[in-house]
Amino acid sequence: MSTGKSGNSGGSGGDRIRRQRRRARTPAHTGERLHKRRGRKASSRQWLERQLNDPYVSAAKAQGYRSRAAFKLSQIADKHTLFEPGDRVVDLGAAPGGWAQVARERVGDTGAVVALDLLAMDPLPDVIIHQGDITDPATLPAIREALGGPANVVLSDMAPNVTGHRTADRLRMLEVVEAALDLAEAVLAPGGRFLAKTRQLGGDEEVMQRLRRDFDHMRFVKPAASRPESAETYVLATGYRGTGA
Ligand SMILES: C[S@@+](CC[C@H](N)C(=O)[O-])C[C@H]1O[C@@H](n2cnc3c(N)ncnc32)[C@H](O)[C@@H]1O
Repeated sequence: MSTGKSGNSGGSGGDRIRRQRRRARTPAHTGERLHKRRGRKASSRQWLERQLNDPYVSAAKAQGYRSRAAFKLSQIADKHTLFEPGDRVVDLGAAPGGWAQVARERVGDTGAVVALDLLAMDPLPDVIIHQGDITDPATLPAIREALGGPANVVLSDMAPNVTGHRTADRLRMLEVVEAALDLAEAVLAPGGRFLAKTRQLGGDEEVMQRLRRDFDHMRFVKPAASRPESAETYVLATGYRGTGA
């Protein structure tokens, strides 16, 4: 019985041409693919190693939090007055839901938590979830309706996907921080608090000026759970002077 291979060894003129074309393409393409695959493997190996050695990842699993980010918010809230029982909280960039879980615990049964993300989120007990984009004009009315009254706290852990292009990444981060502050100033009650992730890449002076002008206190906070090598930091503003809601 002949195999397909030996049967085709001579081949028609068309087959020969196709084989030649394939041979001519192969080295460069294969090299490129292998290179990419090797690069991806190295970075996912690093990611996996970091996850396996990260005490916050195992603690999140053990304590039933959906993300290690839950500890960043807990640490900030332990150190600064962020939540009071009964608070109404907006959590922007909430998926998968670690911050929303922490906020829910801290505000208790009389409080309310409204979570927003571009991504779909699995339901969380007593958390109102809205899927949408902070930059979409339809988001503010939807959050207002879900809140049912002025907010006491607006949180933003939003982080646009990084492209690797420094200027583009800086602008996209700035866009979501500005949008978070716009929403905060539209829903916060007097005395309200605002906590937002930023990357301190420059260009955010206008936002910082607004925070200094519109809130009694403003400071940068970097909780222990935020990886030291990460450029992320958080800006915490308390004592909102306006009447957004
Ligand atoms: C670091 S994750 C948030 C983790 C979350 N705080 C937790 O504890 O699980 C950042 C989130 O920001 C969301 N995000 C980025 N840009 C957004 C936008 N324009 N509108 C709404 N969410 C956005 C992403 O989809 C992502 O889920």
